[in-house]
Amino acid sequence: MALTPNAPFQLEDLSEDMNILSKALRESLHGIPDAPAGRSERRILNLACGRADETGVLADIFGGEHRLEIVGADIRDAEIEEARLRWKTPTHSDVHTRFHVEDGKRFLDAMSSNERFDLTFMRHQNFWNNPKLWARMFEGGLRQLGEDGLFVITSYFDVEHELACRKLAALGAVKVADHRNLDSRALADAPGKSVDRHIAVFRKPLSGTSVQP
Ligand SMILES: C[S@@+](CC[C@H](N)C(=O)[O-])C[C@H]1O[C@@H](n2cnc3c(N)ncnc32)[C@H](O)[C@@H]1O
Repeated sequence: MALTPNAPFQLEDLSEDMNILSKALRESLHGIPDAPAGRSERRILNLACGRADETGVLADIFGGEHRLEIVGADIRDAEIEEARLRWKTPTHSDVHTRFHVEDGKRFLDAMSSNERFDLTFMRHQNFWNNPKLWARMFEGGLRQLGEDGLFVITSYFDVEHELACRKLAALGAVKVADHRNLDSRALADAPGKSVDRHIAVFRKPLSGTSVQP
């Protein structure tokens, strides 16, 4: 599903970061069975999405030939405003985006338990910085996944990735891929950090499996 931005990225690096993310996501997903055919629509939940630069990449990789809805949320309003401007979709398009300025925990708490997503995505998750908050967002993101859904995180540095993966496993999520993105762009002012350095893919806990909050 091709989704063209309404406005170009302001920073030159971003387009190249998106190309690298796209390639790394494809590599991470290699060998993971696609959701069963037959459903006419797919839904993506992008939590703590910031500007949601990756919206076009997500549509391309996860949208397939389906109708697609992408729902993003972040607590920062300037970033969400930029996401809305860049990724606003025409009313009758096969792909539809909506972005909410909302605390992620509140957003998930208010969501109907019937709402189901095929993918929960968290780019550059920040679990290490506030484990309690991010654990709640992990839990909510897992809860809203359909049975065949995937939960995908990316991380800037090794330790935060390890901590997030451990927490997701403690919540019952099953890791099905963990990819070290060797093409990721190093951050000059932050040794050891790079853009989408790690990508991990999880499946939802099997129903009936107990979770440890
Ligand atoms: C490391 S940034 C990643 C942003 C974006 N996903 C990206 O990769 O560019 C972490 C994001 O978490 C958001 N965030 C922090 N606390 C939040 C909360 N309580 N609810 C929703 N988003 C939150 C921040 O505003 C920020 O955009």
